[in-house]
Amino acid sequence: MNIKNKYKITPVIGLQWGDEGKGKSVARIASHLKTSDLIVRFQGGNNAGHTIWHKSKCYVFKLIPSGVFGKAQIHLGAGMVINGAALLQETQTIPLNIQFLNRMSVSPHAVLTLPTHILLDSILEKSKGKKKIGSTGRGISPSYTDLIMRRALRVGDIFHNDFKKKYNALSLEHKNFLSNVFGYDISNKKLKEELKESEKNFWQGIKFLSSLTILNSADLVEKTLSSGNKVIAEGAQGTLLDVRFGNYPFVTSSHTIASGVGTGLGISPVSIGASIGVLKAYTTKVGEGPFPTELGGKKSAVWCRDNKFAYEKEKFQNPNPNSQDEFEQGVALRRRGNEIGAVTGRLRRTGWLDIPLVKYAIKINNATELVLTKLDILNSFEKIKVCTDYIINTQKTQKTPFDLSRKKIKCVYKSFPVWKGKLSDYGKKLPKEALDYIKFLEKILGAKIIYVGTGPEEHHVVERYW
Ligand code: GDP
Ligand code: IMO
Ligand code: MG
Repeated sequence: MNIKNKYKITPVIGLQWGDEGKGKSVARIASHLKTSDLIVRFQGGNNAGHTIWHKSKCYVFKLIPSGVFGKAQIHLGAGMVINGAALLQETQTIPLNIQFLNRMSVSPHAVLTLPTHILLDSILEKSKGKKKIGSTGRGISPSYTDLIMRRALRVGDIFHNDFKKKYNALSLEHKNFLSNVFGYDISNKKLKEELKESEKNFWQGIKFLSSLTILNSADLVEKTLSSGNKVIAEGAQGTLLDVRFGNYPFVTSSHTIASGVGTGLGISPVSIGASIGVLKAYTTKVGEGPFPTELGGKKSAVWCRDNKFAYEKEKFQNPNPNSQDEFEQGVALRRRGNEIGAVTGRLRRTGWLDIPLVKYAIKINNATELVLTKLDILNSFEKIKVCTDYIINTQKTQKTPFDLSRKKIKCVYKSFPVWKGKLSDYGKKLPKEALDYIKFLEKILGAKIIYVGTGPEEHHVVERYW
């Protein structure tokens, strides 16, 4: 692939609520990179789940950049939160014949996730009751909270003699908070045993982290760019999950947008080039919060919150994508798209593509090129629907309101006919109906669709503009 940005980073950013297919997109780009190029993560932690298929095997990367099967250098950047035990475990999923530790580095600024962060995450979520966010439970928000509270432990701290002391002090602060504020019994035997086990894993993770190459993100990026090599910044989560500009408070705790590349790596904003935006041909969301185009509306939101995949499979053995019941259509979309959370196994809520939201995301990220994923999932639908506008207070608009949940939004849809058979039957060409749909999206979104995903594997893609 021809990366257009020269001497600038290319952010690859999710334009929806995460799980757009960023992992596959980055892996595809990575397959064209050289050993002197670089792929970095700049935010988030193991709340991410980036799925790629390599040589017919499925991998889910949470912390390691998705370009690991290519030749480029990979880096876990300053803006990340890192669970060392999870990182160690993830490295063990990569086949032994893939040499990557010699091309992988970690920033000393990245924040460490402690076992008590994970405990805090689960208890804080439970305490919110019906107002929960639907966190992935990986301790992400408490880890970032400690950074803002200026008491976090960072990767660079591992190498100092007082690390253990600092760890014990912070861990105790967390336990005291849980006990004083939530009346949590920290002397409970079961809890103590669980924490002991997590701590054992934590220290194994720290040992592993201390064996890795530690590099300052900014230095690494600047050196790579100034010698004319490419840098790809792999976004995690999606624009609508950005902690400030997403649909607050139903967001993650980091800056998922392209500007996050600057603060997440410590580089000048002029080094950030135009983004490649990744969007699904429909919309999905895991966790709570408003979702204007959700098929089945509130019923779907509650269903996905309360039920497991096994139960849904039993209840809906063969959901009809063309059912008159929108809820059933949503189930069919989930089943066909295998929309089950890659990290938590939760049911992803499903709905039609939402142009006002994607337009907002394109603008905020300066996404001039797009990757449209999972078009093949719409194969057996009779028509594809796209929300082109919202009606808010009788006014038609494409502008995303400040807070989606405070407005009564009615969606205006446009329908498109669907091709006959499967997209894969058309090889590297796309059927007329798919092309009409793609061209409509390019026009309304004002950006080029450079890749169209026609299946989950690396080669399931149609490249355009080449
Ligand atoms: P990410 O978090 O943005 O990397 O996305 P996830 O990996 O969480 O979810 C995307 C899912 O869609 C994964 O299971 C991918 O294997 C799959 N996928 C990506 N692109 C395509 C595509 O074009 N077609 C199909 N059928 N699956 C795809
Ligand atoms: P990738 O990188 C989809 C969602 C959670 C929850 C909210 C906050 O695979 O696209 P957190 O654990 O971050 O405190 O959860 O954000 N969320 C994601 N949804 N894809 C992700 O990552 C997500 N990471 C977090 O479901 O609603
Ligand atoms: Mg994901």
